Amino acid sequence: MTERFEFKLLATDGKARRGEVTMPRGTIRTPAFMPVGTVGTVKAMYLGQVRELGADIILGNTYHLMLRPGAERVARLGGLHEFIRWPYPILTDSGGFQVMSLEGLRKLDEQGVTFKSHVDGSLHHMSPERSIEIQGLLDSDIQMQLDECVRLPAEPKEIERAMEMSYRWAERCKVAFGDQPGKAMFGIVQGGDIPELRVRSAQALAGLDLKGYAIGGLAVGEPQGVMLDMIDTTCPHLPTEKPRYLMGVGTPDDILKSVAHGIDMFDCVMPTRSGRHGLAFTRHGRINIRNARHAEDTRPLDEQSACPASRDYSRAYLHHLVRANESLGGMLLTWNNLAYYQELMAGIRAAIEQGRYADFMAETQEAWARGEA
Ligand code: GUN
Repeated sequence: MTERFEFKLLATDGKARRGEVTMPRGTIRTPAFMPVGTVGTVKAMYLGQVRELGADIILGNTYHLMLRPGAERVARLGGLHEFIRWPYPILTDSGGFQVMSLEGLRKLDEQGVTFKSHVDGSLHHMSPERSIEIQGLLDSDIQMQLDECVRLPAEPKEIERAMEMSYRWAERCKVAFGDQPGKAMFGIVQGGDIPELRVRSAQALAGLDLKGYAIGGLAVGEPQGVMLDMIDTTCPHLPTEKPRYLMGVGTPDDILKSVAHGIDMFDCVMPTRSGRHGLAFTRHGRINIRNARHAEDTRPLDEQSACPASRDYSRAYLHHLVRANESLGGMLLTWNNLAYYQELMAGIRAAIEQGRYADFMAETQEAWARGEA
């Protein structure tokens, strides 16, 4: 296994890219979907299952883990990989975005963010340097710069201020991260829905020569077309030979289209969170298993799936479990959803290798639209 963090492009098809990130804890096949493990668990899943479904990397959250159980405690317990029993790569988000989603007290200035813990109400301060320090204590393989993500719609001046401050925070995070050959610190492009700001943000961050670049501040309430436009505006200003990560996205359709616009990595709570709420993603589109029409449906979610949750249980049973608020309902639907997301990513990667990404997209979308008998 390699000692250095490296990204290789293996094939391209239009703007879609098939690549590979290698680092000491493993290889990430891109385009990649990273299941979200906010508090050190991919909710309702055993990590062994997550791995078996084809996940090369999972995501953790600085904000949640610093509050509980605490970054220093995780470090004393041997780091996050050892603590949660996932020896493969972990990417951690920096905390800025999670703080933004907090209701109530939160103050943000050049020094960083001050916020009140949702766990016990205690006050915390996080500077860009402290965010990187925490991610180091967690022993995260891919660390994210601290940034400020503005909720859209917002005033252009406000979007510009947050983008510029995020850039200054990227400079500070780069210094704090230092030289760690086996790990990476990614910058985050901001700039809301304003193309000129996205270009400036991408160009400035590209100048820092970071190991990877994320596009943030999207999927925050704007239409999908705006998101894709912003990706298209941003990507030409990012170095071709570095991975591109679209943060917090998205639906299978968002992923399919974003790959066509040049994105390599994704994370989203959608498959896990929706699973716990009774929404199943399948090759035939979405199924809301709570719906009364499934009450006596003996068919599985997808009889051709390799995943037991999708193949071996009737919709009637899943419907019953979810209606009765049984844990197993959320577990089976999450399992199905993560299986589908990873199957989609495998299909995407194969299609790019074969130079048939446009056809793959069309076929996949047709199957979603057709639904099933
Ligand atoms: N997750 C989704 N969007 C964002 C973003 O803009 N910044 C960070 N740090 N995380 C995100």
